[in-house]
Amino acid sequence: MPGLDPVHNGNTFDSARRLAGKVALITGGASGIGESTAKLFAYHGAMVIIANFQDELGHDIVNSTNIDVISYVHCDITRGLDVQNAINIVVSKYGKLDIMFNNAGCSDPAEAKITAFEQEAFNKVISLNVLGSFLGAKHANKVMTPTKKGNILFNASYASVSHGATSHIYSASKHALVGLTKNLCVELGQYAGFRPWQYGIRVNCISPFGVATPMTTMREGIGNKEVEDLISSTANLKRTVLRVGDVAKATLFLGGDESSYVSGLNLVVVGGYSTTNIAIAESKRKMFT
Ligand SMILES: NC(=O)c1ccc[n+]([C@@H]2O[C@H](COP(=O)([O-])OP(=O)(O)OC[C@H]3O[C@@H](n4cnc5c(N)ncnc54)[C@H](O)[C@@H]3O)[C@@H](O)[C@H]2O)c1
Repeated sequence: MPGLDPVHNGNTFDSARRLAGKVALITGGASGIGESTAKLFAYHGAMVIIANFQDELGHDIVNSTNIDVISYVHCDITRGLDVQNAINIVVSKYGKLDIMFNNAGCSDPAEAKITAFEQEAFNKVISLNVLGSFLGAKHANKVMTPTKKGNILFNASYASVSHGATSHIYSASKHALVGLTKNLCVELGQYAGFRPWQYGIRVNCISPFGVATPMTTMREGIGNKEVEDLISSTANLKRTVLRVGDVAKATLFLGGDESSYVSGLNLVVVGGYSTTNIAIAESKRKMFT
């Protein structure tokens, strides 16, 4: 069935429904990367539940998308009971949970140097970025293990592979998610060979480069276009701009059966940025021009 790509409106694309019959819960799905992923997952046939604490935004998305396969549940991911409740609602509505995308997170509002470290900022970022995702994985696991299938995803960041551009706390929080991905993929994949608890649950994370979303526009205090210009000027891959839809498409790959033997992966979506170090070339350029 041909259709319009909900991410890049106007472009037709192969509309095979890559998530047909699947049920996905996306935390932080009321804006930015989570919103784009929710819409793309729904387009590909998934039943999607957005879990967020920004109720108005969440309801607006459900009402405006005109796709009745997206619904909303109030959830503060730093509260275990909220997360458990969100998952219970998904299971009572659809009977299962196939994909848990632990996407909600925040940047470090203080962006402090180590000497200006404030424990309050540390607690806020770690609580949201690490504890919130940890709780999502824990409660999703409870409903996935009995069925012996499922797919747990985290949203880390290029800060998990490139350093110096974000605060220490943010970087530490995103490294923690990569560690959690790799450790959890062992427990939930197989664990102990022939024993009865062979779960077959995949665990992966995605690490996007900078992209214009409410998180980045608010942090920088500038608009989408300015954020994109700023990011593009530092990007390795030129002549293109990373947008939320590109991150959603990479997440779709991890969420669907095309990645059915992929687990424990940190899928780095940075246009080669993490492989480069152009400091010497830049120095030479400045010296000789
Ligand atoms: N934008 C970027 O440049 C970038 C790059 C790499 C990784 N990321 C990661 O992507 C993820 C999504 O961020 P985004 O850029 O789309 O920003 P965003 O601000 O649009 O999305 C974050 C969402 O999380 C929600 N949220 C915040 N606290 C919550 C809580 N306690 N409970 C439930 N929901 C909560 C917010 O309401 C918001 O909808 C984050 O984990 C972020 O670290 C972003």
